Amino acid sequence: MITITVELGDRRYDVVVGDGARHLLATMISDVVPTAGRAAVVTQAGIPVDVDPGLPFEVFTVPDGEAAKSLSVVEALCRGFARARISRSDVVIAVGGGVVTDVAGFAAASFHRGVSYVNVSTTLLGQVDAAIGGKTGVNIPEGKNLVGAFWQPKAVLCDTEVLSTLPPREWASGRGEMAKYAFLGATGDAGTSGQPGASLLDVALSDQVARCVSIKAEVVASDEREGDRRMILNYGHTLAHALEAAAFGPDRRWDLRHGEAVAIGLVFAATLARRLGRIDDSRVNLHRRVVRGFDLSGDLPAGADAEELVTFMARDKKAHHDLTFVLDGPNGPEPVRDIEPAEVVATLAEMERSS
Ligand code: GLY
Repeated sequence: MITITVELGDRRYDVVVGDGARHLLATMISDVVPTAGRAAVVTQAGIPVDVDPGLPFEVFTVPDGEAAKSLSVVEALCRGFARARISRSDVVIAVGGGVVTDVAGFAAASFHRGVSYVNVSTTLLGQVDAAIGGKTGVNIPEGKNLVGAFWQPKAVLCDTEVLSTLPPREWASGRGEMAKYAFLGATGDAGTSGQPGASLLDVALSDQVARCVSIKAEVVASDEREGDRRMILNYGHTLAHALEAAAFGPDRRWDLRHGEAVAIGLVFAATLARRLGRIDDSRVNLHRRVVRGFDLSGDLPAGADAEELVTFMARDKKAHHDLTFVLDGPNGPEPVRDIEPAEVVATLAEMERSS
């Protein structure tokens, strides 16, 4: 097992990565929430992972998919917690991917004005991103994740053994999010020699997850509430969110999982950074190589409309009212504001020509 600590002072917590990490749950809870006498386990029907919190517990099943991320589900959970007599000193345990940890974390943040929670993350995407860092929340019709709270878990268990049950597209989605980390962090992966980013490809799965978690832990510890630096965790995401938003249009032109969209967004961000003179060809090629190495495509889906994508990008809440992108450069990826829409359109055209 590999343990990584998210260093947040008196709210610091451990993330344990490895095969069978879920079996540490009972010990972990008695260490980090010693006051707990009862537990509320929140999960989804299709998640084939049983946990033993070592305490009397009740299971709460939320709907499948993004439908679970709604205020009505938070209300149902909180009413269920109240009926199960969960007190402020008890513990909520989220067992699932990002949808479950987001909604259970927000219910925990809200119930009794804040109950401790522990994440048992069961997807690759969740293990390398959503389960760590304390962003919890739900969607409203006006936008995704528009209602939520920063509420840090007391511990996170990333059991790599359970990943073997993931469907192939879920793997692909996690790998897209992993590809992002090849360019982040102080590990040298964002170095200028052209090679280090690809090193993430060469290690075993649990080491890959642990490396991604270490980078995320360091970034979250340095900027918990996304004042600035934490934005780098959205590397590749501005175009990805636009592609995902466009995909939900009336004619549903393509079917992309989140990480698959991030992979395209990484190649786009590198191409835009080169257009703006921030990086050279070799660095763009490294992005393409890493994305391919994770068995993903960096090409725009057929039928992508540049003007429409720019409109969606401008609406992205992470864009802070102007067209902001996380772009690679001599110091690695960093937020760059006030990008001209014409540059974005030209970059999308360039990608279409080279695909
Ligand atoms: N998923 C991006 C973040 O946690 O900040």
